[in-house]
Amino acid sequence: MKARKMRKIINLLSIFFLAISIFNLSLYAQKNSCVECHQELEDELLAPVEAFKIDIHQQFGLSCTDCHGGNPAEEDIDLAKDKTFKGTPQRFRIPEFCASCHSDSRYMRRFNPSIRVDQLDIYWTSKHGQLLKKGDTKVALCTDCHAAHGIQAATHPKSWTFPWNIPQTCSRCHSDTNYMKDYRIPTKQWVDYKNSVHAHALF
Ligand code: HEC
Ligand code: HEC
Ligand code: HEC
Ligand code: HEC
Ligand code: HEC
Repeated sequence: MKARKMRKIINLLSIFFLAISIFNLSLYAQKNSCVECHQELEDELLAPVEAFKIDIHQQFGLSCTDCHGGNPAEEDIDLAKDKTFKGTPQRFRIPEFCASCHSDSRYMRRFNPSIRVDQLDIYWTSKHGQLLKKGDTKVALCTDCHAAHGIQAATHPKSWTFPWNIPQTCSRCHSDTNYMKDYRIPTKQWVDYKNSVHAHALF
């Protein structure tokens, strides 16, 4: 009697685990033609797929389509890039491109109830934002400080915006005398200045 009951339980359990693994497999096999095709391409068409493996957006279940649009269920390039496909945003549009989610508190709270949604507002008050409004696209945009693919949480030690990486992130422009030659701000003292700067509000 007892042995029979045990067998029944074991059978039920194995069906349960089988069901779970089939479910996992189907998740795994879910089509993402963007990744599948770009994986086979080269250089700047491959790089986003490689970088995206560690991206925070990928960790929260988002993918190429959430930023670029398109239909990831279609293998054919013309069908995948349907009318929802946005492609690569023009440089001066990037702040609004990122803020389409990051300024939308209802959307962002579904993922993280305590995340801030004021980055775009703060950006427009910064020198970078003010100059961008005047048409200067050499200033820092969201992607210059965070990357476009391979973005990590601000608290991640490898993130471009983690305190000890910030000097390097800013120096790419600010210590580049040639890049900054049209501006009247120093490129030499930048390295000393850097440590005091670590919040959006200060930019
Ligand atoms: C968080 C938003 C976001 C996600 C998610 C995202 N991208 Fe992008 N992508 C951008 C932005 C912004 C640019 C343009 C700026 C840049 O490349 O510096 C871009 C540019 C590109 C480019 C043009 C690169 C070039 O140098 O010409 C390709 C190709 C691309 N993305 C493919 C992908 C693929 C494939 C995925 C999924 C693995 C993906 N992207 C996911 C935001 C995103
Ligand atoms: C069958 C292959 C294939 C598929 C599927 C595919 N791509 Fe591409 N993609 C390419 C090729 C080739 C290019 C470069 C030529 C061009 O721009 O059409 C490209 C260019 C891009 C660019 C940069 C140029 C632009 O139009 O802004 C982005 C961004 C991009 N793809 C995103 C995506 C996304 C998102 C998906 C999924 C919805 C996707 N791709 C699906 C092959 C593919
Ligand atoms: C489709 C909506 C969407 C778009 C577009 C988008 N993001 Fe995100 N982003 C998210 C979500 C959701 C998270 C996860 C929330 C979290 O980190 O708690 C996130 C997280 C982040 C984080 C990490 C925040 C943290 O926890 O420290 C950064 C940085 C970031 N995004 C920057 C960008 C940049 C830069 C762009 C534009 C290139 C962009 N995002 C575009 C939805 C989006
Ligand atoms: C893509 C290039 C680029 C990156 C990356 C960049 N900046 Fe800038 N930044 C500029 C340009 C261009 C200006 C305009 C110079 C001016 O003020 O005339 C500027 C101006 C500034 C100013 C105003 C300076 C003043 O006195 O007018 C501050 C402050 C600043 N940046 C801080 C930072 C910080 C902090 C970082 C890193 C977190 C950073 N920037 C990253 C290009 C960049
Ligand atoms: C000049 C560099 C710079 C620019 C431009 C920039 N950020 Fe940031 N961002 C940072 C730094 C540094 C941090 C981490 C410290 C902090 O939170 O102030 C950060 C933090 C974040 C976070 C984490 C949550 C938070 O607020 O602490 C998000 C999300 C984010 N940025 C999104 C954006 C978006 C979207 C844009 C464009 C509208 C943008 N950032 C422009 C440097 C930048």
